[in-house]
This record gives sequence, C-alpha cells and structure tokens, in this order.
Amino acid sequence: MTSPLETISAVVVGREKEIAAIVAAVNCGRHILIEGPPGTSKSTVLRTIAKYLDIPLFIVEGNMDLTPAKLAGHFNPGKVMQDSYDPKHFEKGPLTMAMEQGGILYIEEFNRMPADVANILITPMEERELNIPRYGKVVAQGKFTVVASQNPYDDVGTVRISRAFMDRICRITLDYQSEAEELEIVSRRTGSTDEKLMLWAVKLARRTREHEEIKMGASVRAAIDLVALGESMKKNGLLTAENVEQAALMALSSKVWLTEMSNKTPEQVVSSLVKEIKEKENLSYVPVTDAEVGAEEKKTFHQGPEISSNNLRR
Ligand SMILES: Nc1ncnc2c1ncn2[C@@H]1O[C@H](COP(=O)(O)OP(=O)(O)OP(=O)(O)O)[C@@H](O)[C@H]1O
Ligand SMILES: [Mg+2]
Repeated sequence: MTSPLETISAVVVGREKEIAAIVAAVNCGRHILIEGPPGTSKSTVLRTIAKYLDIPLFIVEGNMDLTPAKLAGHFNPGKVMQDSYDPKHFEKGPLTMAMEQGGILYIEEFNRMPADVANILITPMEERELNIPRYGKVVAQGKFTVVASQNPYDDVGTVRISRAFMDRICRITLDYQSEAEELEIVSRRTGSTDEKLMLWAVKLARRTREHEEIKMGASVRAAIDLVALGESMKKNGLLTAENVEQAALMALSSKVWLTEMSNKTPEQVVSSLVKEIKEKENLSYVPVTDAEVGAEEKKTFHQGPEISSNNLRR
C-alpha cells in the first residue's frame, strides 16, 4: 500500500518537510501563511494536500476589489425584494462554504486585499464562528483552515498584514527548489526527454535570480515554458539557434522584474544572460546541421567540461 506522502510525491517534486508541516497544521486546525515567490509550488502543494486529505479547497484571489461580502456571501437583492431576507436567499461566499464544509479557504496574494476584508477572517480563525446578519451563525466544521499566501518580493499595491492576523497564523516559506528538483519538475510538466534543453532552460531561469539588475528572477515556470516552446519548435522543424534564443526571450522576459536602477529592457537582460552562460559556462543549446552530425542526431548541446553551479543560488 502506498503511504499518503508517497501519493503526494507522485504529484509534487520534493517539499517533503513542508508538506508534512502543512498537513500537520491542517489536521490540528492551525491557519497558515505560505510565503514564496511566484511559481514555488504554493498552489500545487495545497491542491495536492486538499486532495489527499479529501477536503474541499476554495481558492480566492486577493485583490483590492475583494469585499467582506464577496468573501462571506450576500443576499440576492432580487429575491429579497420579491420575498424577504430568508436565509435561503443568501448566496454563500467561499469563506462560508469553507466553514460549513470543513474545507480550506486559500487566499492567494493575501496582502493585496483591503485590511477590512482581512479582519473578517479573525473571528472564524479564532472562534471558528461567524455571525452573518439575517443569515445566522456559521460554525466551522471539520478541518476548516485559512491558508493565505504572499510573494515576499511584492511591495507595490500591497498592504501590511496586521499583527492581529499574524498572531493567529503559522508561517512557512517556500523558496526556489534545487536544480535537480527543478529539472524533475520541468520534465514532468513538459514530458520532454531532451535533457540538454531542460538543463539549459533551468540554468537560464536560475541565473535570472542572481542577476544584479533583476529584483525578482524567473521561476521554474520560465524553464517549463522554454522547454515547451523548444519542443514545439522541434516538432515543426523550427528549432534553429536563432529561434531557440527567441524562445528564451519569450519564456523569460515577462517573468523577470528589473530593479528601479536598471535602464535596460527585460529582453536585453535575458539576452545578456543567454550570452553570459554561453561564454562563461560554455553552456548553450545549439542545434547543429545534418551535415555536421548526420541525420540521426540532428540536435546537439554544447557544454564545457567545467560547468559550475557554485554561483547558482540553490
Ligand atoms: N515542487 C513541484 N512539484 C511539481 N510541480 C511543480 C513544483 N513546483 C512548481 N511546479 C510547477 O510549476 C508551476 C508553478 O507552480 P504553482 O502554480 O504551484 O506555483 P505558485 O507558488 O502557486 O505560484 P503563484 O505564486 O504564481 O501562484 C506549475 O506548473 C506547477 O505544476
Ligand atoms: Mg499559486
């Protein structure tokens, strides 16, 4: 029989410690703040845990348009006009549904929603109850848990999370994973078997995280996109040296966030990284011609013997 953690590992690469901690928190009714840059598996981990624990997951995107009524629910105005404030005319929001069904309320980018919306969560988190005028008292069932996430690099258009909220929550950070784990993620997500293309894409994405002109680098999503683009080009016979570099620009440039000091475009910075890893690490993905290698091996990969990952962050 496979263990629960084995079931989760079949979907999530790595993250064993973090998964064990989150499962423990959900099982004992502790609320969680997951802090991590985009693409660091926050949603994947939570979705998989909810599935494994067999509890419903309600996902809400935190933004300035979110209101307490959107979160808790509201009375249908037409039905109230025709009839009355009967509880059956109450349209439940994700908070009420999560409480009644003993599910997880997952609020992504929690620090982007207005403070008064965050405050509505305090009583359900603390008392496991919520009083909704004319609807009645909602009592949290089973494993009701609030999970909030935030990106530590996000500082524009965000609000400071209140001490009252932080005092009622347990915090866990999910940072970028190791190179080997990112390679495994890319392989699972794209189905590619081209190890050289995957290594190039993962190295390139990882390099963006330590470039001095980049405030927030690209996640494994960039490597997934680059490999998917490369594989798609291959299928259509479009994989040339220029095209694969264009694919790198496409996959990476939207995902890097330059510092205020930089006067370059994201494309220029990504281009310079493509050049840099080619020159410094002798690492590039270069399709070579049939004449050079024979028709059976059309694509090759140029990698120097001394590739070092010492300067890579993790
Ligand atoms: N550890 C992992 N195991 C399996 N897939 C992963 C892992 N990490 C990332 N991925 C894949 O990378 C992509 C991004 O992951 P995910 O959506 O979970 O990140 P996130 O932290 O929720 O990002 P965001 O902050 O942007 O919402 C998805 O395609 C996901 O399948
Ligand atoms: Mg997510």
